Amino acid sequence: MSDLHFYEPRNGHRDVPGLAHDPLNSIVAPRPIGWISTLAADGTRNLAPYSFFTLLNYRPPIVGFASIGWKDSVANITAMGEFVWNLATRDLAAPMNASAAMVAAGVDEFELAGLEGAPSRLVAPPRVAASPVAFECRHTQTLRLQGIDGAEIDTWLILGEVVGIHIAPHLIEDGAYRTAAARPILRGGGPGDYFEITEDALFKMRRPA
Ligand SMILES: Cc1cc2nc3c(=O)[nH]c(=O)nc-3n(C[C@H](O)[C@H](O)[C@H](O)COP(=O)(O)O)c2cc1C
Repeated sequence: MSDLHFYEPRNGHRDVPGLAHDPLNSIVAPRPIGWISTLAADGTRNLAPYSFFTLLNYRPPIVGFASIGWKDSVANITAMGEFVWNLATRDLAAPMNASAAMVAAGVDEFELAGLEGAPSRLVAPPRVAASPVAFECRHTQTLRLQGIDGAEIDTWLILGEVVGIHIAPHLIEDGAYRTAAARPILRGGGPGDYFEITEDALFKMRRPA
């Protein structure tokens, strides 16, 4: 494999002939979607998808997402200390996308996306009622990202501990959560590529002992 394309991202991807579009988020894909609900201090419900999102630890469970810019979700979590992660499924793709609209902080983004909220048990922000899985989270850390020169970037990694988990019973079979049964959607690259997880994508492999 000596003829691989190579470029340095700081100089842009156009060093590779014919590579008109930045491949980065198509390569690290598909990414789970952090569909994050929060409350503003005045009680306004906020909802937004973040695909720079993942589960980072088992015990305690820690999830994190990166906001490129100081967005309303970050402001709300900083002020209120809580958020909910909602599973984005194929059925909820359109409202998930609608909740990405850049609107003023005072806009109720559940209403904007045509979604009902359901009360959480341990935190104040509501969960998306139609989503079959939700994690109630308390904010643990905010890390402002920086580059190799130590310069701070306008990107904020928000971490939170999962303190409560809601799961629709139909997703559990023989005691195990069935990932594909929820038809989760994941973000690919480009302006609008997504992947849906279905049972035929599954293969099994155990770790070496
Ligand atoms: C599928 C999807 C994934 C997204 N992922 C991110 C992300 O990881 N980081 C980010 O800053 N914005 C991301 N966005 C854009 C935000 O959702 C958008 O800026 C939104 O308006 C932020 O809402 P807020 O200001 O209410 O938090 C994504 C949008 C979509 C549709």
